[in-house]
Amino acid sequence: MTIQEFQNAIKKGIPNELPELKPYDHSVSHAPKREHLLNETEKKLALKNALRYFDAKHHSILVPEFAKELEVYGRIYMYRFRPDYNMYARPIEHYPAKSQYAASIMLMIQNNLDYAIAQHPHELITYGGNGSVFQNWGQYILTMKYLSEMNDEQTLIMYSGHPMGLFPSHKNAPRVIVTNGMMIPNHSSQEDWNKYNALGVTQYGQMTAGSYMYIGPQGIVHGTTITVLNAARMLGNGQTKGKVFVTSGLGGMSGAQAKAAVIAGMIGVVAEINPIAAQKRHAQGWVDEIYTDLDKLVKRIKAAKKGGEAVSMAYQGNVVDMWEAFVKADVPIDLGSDQTSLHNPYSGGYYPVGVSFEEGETMIAENPEQFREGIHKTLRRHVDAINIMAERGMYFFDYGNAFLKSARDLAKADILKPDGSFKYSSYVEDIMGPMCFDFGFGPFRWVCASGKSEDLDKTDAIAARIIEERLAVAPPEIQQQLADNLHWIKTAKENKLVVGSQARILYADAEGRMKIAEAFNNAIAAGEIGAIILGRDHHDVSGTDSPYRETSNIKDGSMFTADMAIQNVIGDAFRGATWVSIHNGGGVGWGEVINGGFGMFLDGTPEADARLKSMLFWDVNNGIARRAWARNEGAVFAIKQAMKREPNLKVTIPNIVDENLLNNL
Ligand SMILES: NC(=O)c1ccc[n+]([C@@H]2O[C@H](COP(=O)([O-])OP(=O)(O)OC[C@H]3O[C@@H](n4cnc5c(N)ncnc54)[C@H](O)[C@@H]3O)[C@@H](O)[C@H]2O)c1
Repeated sequence: MTIQEFQNAIKKGIPNELPELKPYDHSVSHAPKREHLLNETEKKLALKNALRYFDAKHHSILVPEFAKELEVYGRIYMYRFRPDYNMYARPIEHYPAKSQYAASIMLMIQNNLDYAIAQHPHELITYGGNGSVFQNWGQYILTMKYLSEMNDEQTLIMYSGHPMGLFPSHKNAPRVIVTNGMMIPNHSSQEDWNKYNALGVTQYGQMTAGSYMYIGPQGIVHGTTITVLNAARMLGNGQTKGKVFVTSGLGGMSGAQAKAAVIAGMIGVVAEINPIAAQKRHAQGWVDEIYTDLDKLVKRIKAAKKGGEAVSMAYQGNVVDMWEAFVKADVPIDLGSDQTSLHNPYSGGYYPVGVSFEEGETMIAENPEQFREGIHKTLRRHVDAINIMAERGMYFFDYGNAFLKSARDLAKADILKPDGSFKYSSYVEDIMGPMCFDFGFGPFRWVCASGKSEDLDKTDAIAARIIEERLAVAPPEIQQQLADNLHWIKTAKENKLVVGSQARILYADAEGRMKIAEAFNNAIAAGEIGAIILGRDHHDVSGTDSPYRETSNIKDGSMFTADMAIQNVIGDAFRGATWVSIHNGGGVGWGEVINGGFGMFLDGTPEADARLKSMLFWDVNNGIARRAWARNEGAVFAIKQAMKREPNLKVTIPNIVDENLLNNL
């Protein structure tokens, strides 16, 4: 297809004539059949809702077709309307657009639906089993058309994948505002999601999927490397060599764990029930060795530990079989975790032990009750094995997948201490929170809109220079973080992390993000590189209120509030973001988290310079101020530093009470 044909297809929008019905493509990974609780009246409502996108002359054909999709897949995806062009992030000039800001958003949308990136591309799901960019192809087509038409005095309003339309605004307003899964609080249960998503009126945007900011697995490799590295450092001698990290999941994000363990110099062992997922990661080189025989795996781990190797191994099978084998063989394990999709356990996020992956899939559709029972039993055995290993000295952490919560709430497993608290910490409580988020370090990222790898090389070099300059004068509290990030950016290219767009993730604090972005904007102005799209994961300092993950180290009782995330997205919107998003959901499940993010287009202009400084400063310091108010020591330090640098910043600092006064009450 020529560029012109591609542009015409985008500009056409919802086609006037029905495209050919497409055969179901078995060569791509598809979402499992979704559960829904719709009665006959509600099924009709779901159909009426879907048909709103199409001229009435097509309804007689589409009614039975969409009814069948709802019956067979549990949702209406409108497969017929899947575009014929290839889905990937094209160079920005290939997009038909009146606004370069809009073109940058189209680029990111296509990146999130790229077959090399998206987990279930035909169901418009980027990652996490249910992280949707759109609910259906009608929404995608219409959104791309709006973006191709919009000017810089309009804002596109997105309601859970549905483009409500273009509204007049102004040059400094965001070009797109995204809300995903926002519900009246009392209607935010999993059953509500099953129902309202099936009706086509809400979607689970995960974090970066529904905000068009997913950049493939490297986003998570960096965060996982930092987590595993610092977890290993906590175990006494600070060395990672010869340490064994055992976990599960080689899926969308969990697939990063094996690679991160090797980058951190350790032995990574990861169970994966889905043979396709395990083989895919092996073929990509993200996991070095693959086993189906647990005896062989046990021997190999012991040998690797003895030799101090940095190597990763997959066990293709159920994680519980693996843990139980390790307990029996007394395998010395230093670190343990889990990254099955336990935020979504009943629809394919977690598979019961004793059945194959295929049998599990069939059971979800044909016998959901038996499947649920199987999940509960499996999770109890999973926790029992981990408890034994922890008694033998292993450090276990929840990896933000609702492991602890599901073990407690769904399986009633042996996961609580006598005082009712969890036996284990979340990785944010012990590691990411105190070491990174409280100081403002979080998953800053950028995409080179030109699509050129030379641009990415130049941006890597610019970022490395800035970290080096900062490291030379940094206070001791943040030297380790800066040193780790410098190592990361210097080795990023050789670690071959790019999948999809020419993108890079780099953990950075407020000052780092602002300085790096400013230097990019200057390089664009000087003609050294093309335009840059900035963003971040929602899994960050300020964007996310999530008591079981990002805000699990907030101990003043405010962990169940969501003021920070809401303040953040409002503040980003009027300080210059190109697009903003706020979601219900994210990694730990529907109703359990509110998370927000942004995208910002840099074109080398003075306006971009002003915007990046204003917005990035707020986007990080909002969360640091809240963390400081919660009495987190690192955050108190960081916000005081920020106030020294910025006289217009005046933050309320907490007074600390002497515990003895309370204890003597
Ligand atoms: N801490 C973080 O930074 C962070 C980051 C990403 C993801 N997460 C969370 O981790 C989870 C995984 O994310 P993902 O994108 O990789 O999801 P995913 O669904 O793509 O991958 C999970 C994998 O686990 C496998 N699996 C399920 N049950 C299993 C079992 N019993 N034994 C062995 N393998 C099993 C699945 O086959 C799947 O491949 C999610 O809950 C996500 O929210 C946390």
